[in-house]
Amino acid sequence: MDDEILNKHPLDAGEVSIEQSLRPTLLNQYIGQSALKERLAIYIQAALEREEPLDHVLLYGPPGLGKTTLAMVIANELGVNIRMTTGPAIEKSGDLLALLNELTPGDVLFIDEIHRMPRAVEEMLYSAMEDFYVDIIVGEGQTARPVHFPLPPFTLIGATTRAGMLSQPLRDRFGIVEHMNYYNAAELTEIIQRSASIFATEIQPAGAFELARRSRGTPRVANRLLRRVRDFAAHEKQSLIDNQLVDYALQLLEIDTAGLDQIDHKILHTMIDYYQGGPVGVNTIAANIGEEVDTIESMYEPYLLQIGFLQRTPRGRVATQAAYEHLKIAFNREEN
Ligand SMILES: Nc1ncnc2c1ncn2[C@@H]1O[C@H](COP(=O)(O)OP(=O)(O)O)[C@@H](O)[C@H]1O
Ligand SMILES: [Mg+2]
Repeated sequence: MDDEILNKHPLDAGEVSIEQSLRPTLLNQYIGQSALKERLAIYIQAALEREEPLDHVLLYGPPGLGKTTLAMVIANELGVNIRMTTGPAIEKSGDLLALLNELTPGDVLFIDEIHRMPRAVEEMLYSAMEDFYVDIIVGEGQTARPVHFPLPPFTLIGATTRAGMLSQPLRDRFGIVEHMNYYNAAELTEIIQRSASIFATEIQPAGAFELARRSRGTPRVANRLLRRVRDFAAHEKQSLIDNQLVDYALQLLEIDTAGLDQIDHKILHTMIDYYQGGPVGVNTIAANIGEEVDTIESMYEPYLLQIGFLQRTPRGRVATQAAYEHLKIAFNREEN
């Protein structure tokens, strides 16, 4: 979950505003996710031509891949306002009604961590999404009566790191369901170069590429590492960030050549050193290294799966031969 992950890597107020300043505002400034962007451009165009709100959009994928940014881009391209909230922040149906009631026709309501909405709120959302009304009960006991409450037509954009935790009825009410992919090194290089120019920092192409390669396919990580490398450059009184400086900074930050950090190492070492490489359950791994199961499942595991260091089996997670090789541990596990 984003907030838990943010707690692990706290951003102070300055960093939050830096993150804001780095957000692209138009679809054509949004780097990567090209197939998704192409589809969205068509849907946005069609909605504008019909003068109807865009269909509801569900964005899912690991933290830091640009879900919030994309929601803002969509609203901007539609030329409408965006109201932003999170699932856990909408505690009661009344909170949701207040949010919906404030929208002007066509607006976007963005709900981050939508899998963490309370049940009653979620149920109220069904008719709001489908037919733009809610039925609420007014009064109590003998005088309680249902009131039909029409709403302005709107677009809901939901974001989640855990699509599997969304109920089927909610999922079914999104006309556009899109998975966000990890970015390749070329795309991250472009993101880093764009951010560097916003910071008025000079970075050599080779340095940007090295940083990109070690950013776990994630723009938020790339931007965070760029800020740290920039600090090292200032400390070294070096005006141009090159390959050597990137490598030096990342070594001090304990980020290895594959972009893995200390927690990735703990996960893999626990599996290999104590459980013969698996299969081992994620709860066991979490207990061993003192991390939340959810942090492992939403943030660490997807990337280790993506680069082929982990596999999921019905009996648990297994470390692959590639993981052994990366950690320079002899691989002599018998196939079973
Ligand atoms: N496609 C992109 N192009 C450029 N920058 C991006 C892109 N996606 C994300 N970013 C940057 O990464 C940061 C994290 O993105 P964010 O939208 O907050 O991710 P999420 O909501 O998926 O956790 C943003 O500040 C933004 O600057
Ligand atoms: Mg977000």
